[in-house]
Amino acid sequence: MNNFYFCTPTKVYFGKGQIKVLREVVGTYGKKVLLVYGGGSIKKSGLYDKVLSLLDGFTIYELNGVEPNPKYESVLEGVKICKEKGIDVVLAVGGGSVIDCSKAICAGAKYDGETWDLISYKAKVDSKIPLVTILTLSATGSEFDYGAVISRMDTNEKVGYCDDVLKPEASITDPEYTFTVPANQTAAGSVDIISHVLEQYFTDKSSFIADCMCESVLKTVIKYAPIAIKNPNDYEVRANLMWASSLGCNGILSLGNNGYAWSCHQMEHVLSAYYDITHGVGLAIVTPRWMEYILSEKTLPVFVKYGKNVWGIDGLSDQETARLAIKKTYDYFLSLGIPMTLKEVGIGEEKLEEMAKRASDSGLLDAYIPLNAQAVLEIYKACL
Ligand code: NZQ
Ligand code: ZN
Repeated sequence: MNNFYFCTPTKVYFGKGQIKVLREVVGTYGKKVLLVYGGGSIKKSGLYDKVLSLLDGFTIYELNGVEPNPKYESVLEGVKICKEKGIDVVLAVGGGSVIDCSKAICAGAKYDGETWDLISYKAKVDSKIPLVTILTLSATGSEFDYGAVISRMDTNEKVGYCDDVLKPEASITDPEYTFTVPANQTAAGSVDIISHVLEQYFTDKSSFIADCMCESVLKTVIKYAPIAIKNPNDYEVRANLMWASSLGCNGILSLGNNGYAWSCHQMEHVLSAYYDITHGVGLAIVTPRWMEYILSEKTLPVFVKYGKNVWGIDGLSDQETARLAIKKTYDYFLSLGIPMTLKEVGIGEEKLEEMAKRASDSGLLDAYIPLNAQAVLEIYKACL
């Protein structure tokens, strides 16, 4: 096992009714709040009214309409409000897109230059406006991690801005707030969690404890996502998915392992940067094809471990186990109702070459299995 340093400053308030701490937690940082949310799901569910009533007496400014694959324009709008109004604390209420946008706002508000300098790693801040989140969708793990993924459609960029400073101060994660998540987003979010784990599980150096932790999160999501789609109001089911979301992406599952660029994520981010598709859908399409591409003598042991421990495959040769594990992964995503080809999400051959080059250039030459532009193109073509 490799040496590691791990520190998570984020306070997590998990479970039914935990919103009771909101007033106290937000109040720790001040009274001027920027409330950030998306397209209106929190108004429909009643969470918006609940938040406003709990923060009665606070001065609340709002940034709404944050889109899935949050756009840089929303970040700029938020930064402007923070600077002009002297905001003390940002409260993000929503899924990963709202939280990511808020993270970038919190950092941008402490920087005199163009916020894109931070997102594109040209500059760095040592502090940010405090961030409190209320999670409404189990997927990205943004509520418990250091990443903010921001898109610029004009330049077809979708950048993962990662910095410890971005970690939220506190996150309220109440599974009841995910009861209203529709089936397609429940499916996409679940694939996202699975993918986060796989990106860490497929490595040339792991430990028994890291493997077991990864496998337990994978088995949890595989078991509960279909049930959540059928019974959206089942608390235990939503609770398991929500904790899996938080554990999946904050690095804890792969401490001590060798870490590499996240191949499927890089390939998916380029697809969304050009076509604005749902992140988890793109991952579901790319992942089984990536698995097929990387299956080799070198990767066989990881596939065998995955097939046996996660999918319960027994009594087959190593090659058969690996192939069946890939098939089961594909069939599982399909069973969640996810469109499993690029064509179904409106992506044709036109830009595949350009996108493959972008994906490869984004660090995939240093991945666990290095992927040059030709390799990515082959994977994309297999997704058509
Ligand atoms: O905008 P509203 O009206 O809130 O509706 C949203 C949105 O349409 C809806 N939704 C969320 N909670 C709901 C709900 N609808 C009903 N009831 C609820 N309780 O779901 C839709 C999708 O929301 P979004 O926030 O976009 O989904 P998700 O959480 O999957 O976030 C995706 C974004 O996060 C990035 C993705 O690339 C994508 O941009 N990622 C962020 C990561 C991170 N910060 O660490 C890592 C991930 O790998 C990922 O890249
Ligand atoms: Zn993801």
